[in-house]
Amino acid sequence: MKKIFKFMPILFLVTFSVNAQEGAEAGKAIFNNRCASCHAVGKKLVGPDLKDVDQRHNQEWIVNFVRHSQQVIKSGDKAAVTLFEEYNKTLMPDHLDLTAADIDHILNFIKEESVKVANAPSSPIVPDRYKPYKGESSLWHQILYLDLPGNHTPVTKNDTQFWFVLTVIFIVIVSVFYAVVKVNQFVDKLDKNNPPSNQ
Ligand code: HEC
Repeated sequence: MKKIFKFMPILFLVTFSVNAQEGAEAGKAIFNNRCASCHAVGKKLVGPDLKDVDQRHNQEWIVNFVRHSQQVIKSGDKAAVTLFEEYNKTLMPDHLDLTAADIDHILNFIKEESVKVANAPSSPIVPDRYKPYKGESSLWHQILYLDLPGNHTPVTKNDTQFWFVLTVIFIVIVSVFYAVVKVNQFVDKLDKNNPPSNQ
């Protein structure tokens, strides 16, 4: 009997986390059916980005707003009125059939997605060969990694503009070199044909 009591907190935690997970699964289904046409997590669509929405309002506010947003706006709720104005008075439809528990499930799903979005690698994605390099861009590093801008986004073979400019510079250098050699040969020839008179 005593042993069971010891395990109670663990049992409670496991049940709790499984419940949250199941809630998020159910929430995902409702979200995709009823909200995804206007909302996303991590991106603004017709309606606001719902990332971390649970940190902007309390649960009661969210339940009321999702069930009947117009009623909340008409009651003069400051946050609701501001949002409504910000979104050019776009009507969010009522969801009177959704219970507080349904909306709680949606919020669990939104919380999970918010964490995913927050942990997503930020763009631009750094190529693998680049990863060992940390710290400021030195000239040596910039040459070695063709990171000519020095901003950790090295030149790739797709940067046609870069390769075009490099080719033009190469052609100009070769042409100048060629011209210098030719002029030298010409001057030599002139010298041979007209030796200085004092010799
Ligand atoms: C037809 C488009 C549309 C649908 C569908 C919709 N919303 Fe909205 N939602 C909006 C708009 C627009 C706003 C901004 C406030 C306003 O204009 O009323 C908003 C605001 C919100 C807010 C406040 C956001 C913030 O940043 O403070 C929450 C929470 C919300 N919606 C949740 C939901 C949920 C949950 C669903 C699905 C059950 C849903 N919405 C379905 C358009 C929609």
